[in-house]
Amino acid sequence: MAEAAKTTGAAAATLSYKGKTYNLPVRLGSVGPEVLDIRKLYSESGCFTFDPGFMATASCDSKITFIDGDEGVLLHRGYPIEQLAENGDYLEVCYLLLFGDLPNKKKLDEFKHTVSRHTMVHDQVNRFFNGFRRDAHPMAVMVGVVGALSAFYHDSLDIDNAEHRKIASYRLIAKMPTIAAMAYKYSIGQPFVYPRNDLDYASNFLHMMFAVPAEDYKVSPTLAKAMARIFILHADHEQNASTSTVRLAGSSGANPFACIAAGIACLWGPAHGGANEAVLEMLEQIGSIERIPEFLKQVKDKNSGVRLMGFGHRVYKNYDPRAASLRSSAHEVLEELGIKDEPLLKLAMELERIALSDEYFVKRKLFPNVDFYSGIILRAMGFPTSMFTVLFALARTVGWIAQWNEMIADPDQKIGRPRQLYTGAPRRDYLPMAKRG
Ligand code: CMC
Repeated sequence: MAEAAKTTGAAAATLSYKGKTYNLPVRLGSVGPEVLDIRKLYSESGCFTFDPGFMATASCDSKITFIDGDEGVLLHRGYPIEQLAENGDYLEVCYLLLFGDLPNKKKLDEFKHTVSRHTMVHDQVNRFFNGFRRDAHPMAVMVGVVGALSAFYHDSLDIDNAEHRKIASYRLIAKMPTIAAMAYKYSIGQPFVYPRNDLDYASNFLHMMFAVPAEDYKVSPTLAKAMARIFILHADHEQNASTSTVRLAGSSGANPFACIAAGIACLWGPAHGGANEAVLEMLEQIGSIERIPEFLKQVKDKNSGVRLMGFGHRVYKNYDPRAASLRSSAHEVLEELGIKDEPLLKLAMELERIALSDEYFVKRKLFPNVDFYSGIILRAMGFPTSMFTVLFALARTVGWIAQWNEMIADPDQKIGRPRQLYTGAPRRDYLPMAKRG
C-alpha cells in the first residue's frame, strides 16, 4: 500500500508578508507534488489565500486515486487504469476503490453476492416515478430519485455508524443501475424490468435497459464487456467537481443518499459529465469532415462561446488515458454490432487528428478527454443521448461513495467552508424610500 501523506518537520516554506515571516509546513504525498499546508495562515497572519476553482489547492488527503496530468497517468489504489480496464471486472474495481486492495476470489464472490442482494428498489419507489413528467430529462429523475432514497432507507442513514455506512454504500452501488434503467423505461413508456441477480453487473444493467417482458433478451457478451469497461473508466477521478460536491455536502453530516444526489446534480453540467452528451450533439452539428475547419474556426474565436466538447481537462495536459481506452473500444463495439464506417466515429477521429496538429490546441495542451469517444460507443449500443450522463453517474457512484467514506473516517475532517474576497459595498445605513434615487 502507498504510504500515508506526512508533514515533514524539516522542510517548510516561508512566506514573508508585511515584515513578518510565516512557516508553512510542507506535506509529502506518496507520489505527486509537494503540498504547502496553509491551514494556520489566517489565524497567524490574518490573511486568506485566493484560489477560485481550486487551481492550486488540495482540499483533502486521499489514498484512493492518483492522477499525473502531465504524463497522462491515472492510478486507482496504485493500479494503472489501462490494466484495470483491460483485465478488471467492474465490481472488482468497486471493491478496490472501497476497500483499498484487489479482492481474492472469496472476497470478490462475497462482495458480488452482497451487491446483488440490494439491486431491487423499495416498491414504493416505483410509484415515486409516476410523479415525473414523461419528457423529464433522466438526469433530473436521477437527482430526484437518488435523493429520495433517504426517504426509503431510514435504517442506513446514521453516518456515525460504520454498519449503516457500509449498507448505504452497497445500496447505492447496487440500486443505481436499477434506477437508471427505470428512468429510461419511464421516459419511453415501457414497463420497468426487474434486476436479474444471476447476471453480472453490466449485463444486468443492459438487460434492465433493453429487455421487454414480451420477449427474451440475450445480452451480448461483447457489449457487456464494453459496458463494464465504460463503467471502470468512469469509476473515480479524485477530487473532480462532483466528487468535491459529494465531500462538501457530506462534510456537514448529510446522509449518503443526499450527498450522492448532490454529486449527480453537479455531474449534470456540460463542463463535467454532461460533456459526453454535448460531444455527440456537436458531431451531429458539424455533420461532415469538410465542415471541420469552419467549426474549429468558431472554437478558436473567443467571442463565439463555442468549445470543442470532449477536449481539454483541468488536470490532464496530455492524452487522457481513459480516452485512449475508449477509442479502441469504439472499434470493437462497432464491429460487434456490424456497423461499418460509422460516420460519426470517422468524423470524431478526423476532428481529433486536425485538432491535435492545430497550434491553438497544441499551445494550450488540449487533448481528447474521456467524453470524446464514449458517446459514439453508447449510441451504437442503443443508448439515447439523454442517458449518457446517467451512465456516467451510475459508474461514478462508487468513486463518490468511496471518497465519502474516506472523508467520514478522516480525523482531520471539518465542515467544508471556503472564505471569500469580499468586493461588495462596505457598511452603509438603510435608506428610506423617499431618499433613494
Ligand atoms: N475548446 C476550446 N478551447 C478550450 C477548451 C475546449 N474544449 N478547453 C479549454 N480551452 C481553452 C480556454 O479557452 C483557455 O484558453 P485561453 O488560455 O486562451 O483563455 C484555455 O484552453 C484553458 O482553459 P480553461 O477553461 O481555463 O481550463 P479549465 O481547466 O478551467 O477547463 C474544462 C477544463 C474541461 C472545463 C475545459 O477544457 C472544457 O470546457 N472542455 C470542454 C468540456 C468537456 O469536454 N468537459 C469534460 C471534462 S472530462 C470529464 C469530466 O470531468 O466530467
